[in-house]
Amino acid sequence: YNYDETYRPIYHFSPPYGWMNDPNGMVYKDGEYHLFYQYNPYGTRWGNMHWGHAVSKNLRKWEHLPVALFPDALGTIFSGSAVIDKNNTGGFGKDALIAIYTSAGKNQTQSIAYSLDNGRTFTTYNQNPVLTDSNIVDFRDPKVFWHDASAQWIMSLATSQTITFYGSKNLKEWNKLSEFGEGIGSHGGVWECPDLFPLTYDGKTKWVLFVSINPGGPNGGSATQYFIGDFNGKTFTPDTMNYPLWLDYGRDNYAGVTWSDIPATDGRRLFIGWMNNWDYANNTPTENFCSAMTLPRELKLAHNGEHLVVSSIPVKEINELRRENQRFDNQKIEKSYTFDKLLKDNVGAYEMEFVVKPQGATAFEFKLFNQNNEQMRFIFDLKNKTLAVDRSKSGKLDFSDNFAQTVINAPLPTKNSYKIRLFVDKNSTEIFVNDGEVVQTNTMFPTAAYNSLSFDNEQGIISVENINVYNLK
Ligand code: FRU
Repeated sequence: YNYDETYRPIYHFSPPYGWMNDPNGMVYKDGEYHLFYQYNPYGTRWGNMHWGHAVSKNLRKWEHLPVALFPDALGTIFSGSAVIDKNNTGGFGKDALIAIYTSAGKNQTQSIAYSLDNGRTFTTYNQNPVLTDSNIVDFRDPKVFWHDASAQWIMSLATSQTITFYGSKNLKEWNKLSEFGEGIGSHGGVWECPDLFPLTYDGKTKWVLFVSINPGGPNGGSATQYFIGDFNGKTFTPDTMNYPLWLDYGRDNYAGVTWSDIPATDGRRLFIGWMNNWDYANNTPTENFCSAMTLPRELKLAHNGEHLVVSSIPVKEINELRRENQRFDNQKIEKSYTFDKLLKDNVGAYEMEFVVKPQGATAFEFKLFNQNNEQMRFIFDLKNKTLAVDRSKSGKLDFSDNFAQTVINAPLPTKNSYKIRLFVDKNSTEIFVNDGEVVQTNTMFPTAAYNSLSFDNEQGIISVENINVYNLK
């Protein structure tokens, strides 16, 4: 492996060598968080899909394990999920770790494989595939969970531009329950990588359905939309809302789904996404590997003042990555102000947090920049209620025509104060506003680490408070 190359992230998961896309089969068992992923072990471009594998005890530090699933007679191995079969419903063994994935051959079909040694080795089921439908070309990405109320496994499956739900008692025989998605949400591209899971808000359980789509994202290319509603063991009924809703308005968070089998004593809903975009993923300027995952995030329901939203924040375990801390004095800024030398030895892996309180300002922005005049701009337009990210001068751009043409917009509810956390890791920025109500994840390829931060505002003043920059290891 070459871990020294310029854009190798320091604290985000990336494959040892080769190409990676979607996270797959995330499941927790015996103190380990498993992360499988779409993997080409033979090159840094998409193809030859296998399931790569890594485990972590703390969602911070990952250990690479050997490839888990290899192409077989039914095809290459596309995206899917994993569950722990606590009651041995499949007959493969109590507590078997069972992967449910798409075999991508002549047709796309669903297959299963089981592991009795915590994911170190898998045996494919000898009667695969377990679910076929030769009429549907895009028929993939099974995400399975045990639904207590109806005492069955539920599979959400991407079926062209809908999600079809199937039920099973044993993970081997599946019957269709219902289909969702016609005439609702975004249909700018094919629907992929669904996930259906409960979250509580104000003591009430709601069901959230994630659907990744490509293309058709709010800022171009791939993105993850979601629906909030109810699920009765058969059908998903969305609440009346102005769909589509987007999990992350940035250009680089795709195909993310949540961990299975997190213990009830923990109770969190944990997520990770692929930090790239099909618009340019195959052209990004890394050498020995391609792509990283987002930070692991905790999902919650929150009210943004107008309606419920799914918020996401980095898991609390990430706080332990903090090393040296630079604290800056509060500033009341009338027009502009620059903080130089954010960190002494800045290799481009840090977190910053601060609070901005606009007083009469109609807009403010901050930008990170380096000595080569490369910059990432974060523009809070309070009149038009948007948070725009501009990476048009962020560094290398020439690898793709699709990378930096437009600013990247997210809706921004009006607040008296904006609490901002921003994570930078070599070639990525993840911004979380007000506990993850507004999120943008965007990659960039600067030729040197951004080590300065400047603020600008229009009219009035902005007060910038509690400014901390942490080196992350
Ligand atoms: C999403 C996706 C999935 C598919 C996988 C193939 O990025 O297109 O639908 O299973 O990638 O690698």
